[in-house]
Parts: sequence; C-alpha cells; structure tokens
Amino acid sequence: MLRALLISLSGNRRLRTFAENSPIGQRVSRRFVAGTTVEDALNATRAVNQRGMSVSVDNLGENVTNAEEAHQSAGLYHQLLDEITARGLNANISLKLTHMGLDVDPRVARELVWGLVQHAAQLNNFVRVDMEGSAYTQVTLDTVHELHRAYPGRVGAVIQAYMRRSQADVERLIAEGIRIRLCKGAYKEPPDLAFQKKSEVDANYVRLMEILLKSGIYHGIATHDERIIEQTKQFARAERISPEAFEFQMLYGIRRDLQEKILRQGWRMRVYIPFGTEWYPYLMRRLAERPANLFFILRNLFRG
Ligand code: FDA
Repeated sequence: MLRALLISLSGNRRLRTFAENSPIGQRVSRRFVAGTTVEDALNATRAVNQRGMSVSVDNLGENVTNAEEAHQSAGLYHQLLDEITARGLNANISLKLTHMGLDVDPRVARELVWGLVQHAAQLNNFVRVDMEGSAYTQVTLDTVHELHRAYPGRVGAVIQAYMRRSQADVERLIAEGIRIRLCKGAYKEPPDLAFQKKSEVDANYVRLMEILLKSGIYHGIATHDERIIEQTKQFARAERISPEAFEFQMLYGIRRDLQEKILRQGWRMRVYIPFGTEWYPYLMRRLAERPANLFFILRNLFRG
C-alpha cells in the first residue's frame, strides 16, 4: 500500500516542486544524494574511491520538457568526464535518455548521447545508459546497440529482472559483447510486461545473473539483496569465475555495511552516486523500495 502510494507520489509535479525547493527537502535528500553540484559529486566520488570502490555518477533528472534542459545536463556530464580524468578518479557516468531530451525530440537525445559516448571513448571512459519505464525499453536498447557498434566497449545497457522480455534482451546484448548492469527494476509495470511477485522477480534475477557471469563479458550485478549477492558469489566460486570478471553495484547511501563487507571479501564494488537539484523522483523510488527509510530520514531530520 505504502509502496504504491510512494511510487504514485514520485510523479506528483506539485509535491516535487515544493520538495526540491524547500530547505527541509534538500536536507532530507542528502541521505541518498551526494549534493547538487558537479563538485559535490566529485567530492563524494573521491571519498568512495578512497574506500576502495569505483563509482558511476548520475546527474539526477528525467523527462526534461525542453531541449535547453537536455543540453544543460549533457554539459554537466561532459564536465564530469573531463574532471574524472583530470582528478584521476575511478568513475564512469550513468545517464537517462529522457534526461537527454528523448520526449522532446529524439534527434536531440541521439546527438547528445552520441557526443557523450564519443567523449568518453576519447578519455578511455564508459557511459551506462540507465533503463527507465517500459515505454522506453526498446528505444534505449536500440540506442545502446547502435552506440556499441560505433564505440565498442564504451557504452553499456541496464536490464531489469522484473521485465518478462529480459532474458531475450540479455541474449541479444551478450551476442554483441555489450556490458550489462542487472537490476530488479524500479518502475510500476503491468502484469503482462513484468513479474509482479517478488519471488518471481528474484528467480528471474538469479537466472539472468548466471547467464551474465558465464558470458565472459564484464557485467554489473546491481542489488542490495543479500540472498542474491550470496548466490552470485557461490555461483562465481562454483564456476571458477574470477572476482575481477564482474562487479557488484549498489546505490549511494544504501547498505554501506554490506558494501564494505563485500569489498573485504575480495569482490569488486561500484557505487552509483546521484547528484543534482532534481532529486525528488529518485528519492521517492528509494523510499518506495523500503518505506522504513521514511522513518529513518524523519528521525535524522528531527534529531537535527
Ligand atoms: P530489494 O528491493 O528486494 O531489496 C533487497 C534488500 O535490500 C532489502 O531487504 C533491503 O535490505 C535492501 N534495500 C533495498 N532498497 C533499499 C533502500 N532503498 N534503502 C535501504 N535498503 C534497501 N532500476 C531501474 O529500473 N533502472 C536502472 O537503471 C537502475 N539502476 C540501478 C543501479 C544500481 C547500481 C542499483 C543498485 C540499482 C539500480 N536500479 C535501477 C534500482 C533497482 O531496480 C531496484 O529498484 C533497487 O536496487 C532495489 O532493489 P534491490 O535489488 O536492492 O532488492
């Protein structure tokens, strides 16, 4: 119930404007968001690197309504790519096609993403194209396939285990040698497109994880689910897959204890660091995943 309410509130424009502009909202968001500027993101990246983990930086925002906003966000990503190299940080970038203007003009989004992948390729870096709601699944995968043909190894996809189509998508991506981040999926999808039961999503996740690990391509296993993480480690050991052959990925501010533990055990860990002024939908999805976070945040807020 609470989860459905939080997901529906994540799309509420008025609440979003209010939250993003209020000092309390900004304070609340700090638990899961590195800050609002490129400098904040780079500082958080350095701190995470110092803990022995790599990073993927995400400029928060989605479904921009004009080309200017899309250009602005692409500009921040160009700046990030340059600064990551200049400061010798271990980080790549994650972006969303709707943040690059896909809903405004697909040609704008295409031009901006191509520019970023080209820039990343020049700097020996990498662009992960996040996966959004099901209306964007096909166009997102098509874009990644096309970019990978031009810049092999410089761009990767995200696959959501809740989507029924995902195994077929995984097989196509692997056939091309494309790197995949596997996650469970964060949007509300109808039963004909997506598994609804947690047990079904988890089972599909494990099935896909095994396909990824056996593919010989460097993939990301993105989850905070301890049971699945354990199954991944066991599978890697049983199949003699090296800990350097893939990485675990987690979100900034979530299960830091588990991040450290996995690293200490000799596995790789990448932390996804979001930053920016448009943090509201992202924060609401994180709260929907674990409504207990709401109480955690409120407690910290009132403790001051
Ligand atoms: P699940 O939700 O089943 O949670 C398992 C356990 O993890 C919980 O019991 C709890 O202990 C812990 N946990 C999970 N969420 C928590 C939270 N918010 N706070 C505290 N503890 C929490 N989605 C998408 O649709 N497109 C994308 O591109 C991405 N990208 C992405 C990158 C990375 C690096 C990660 C880790 C995740 C994503 N996601 C995503 C989000 C993903 O789809 C999913 O919504 C969340 O990761 C939560 O699912 P879990 O796999 O953690 O499992």
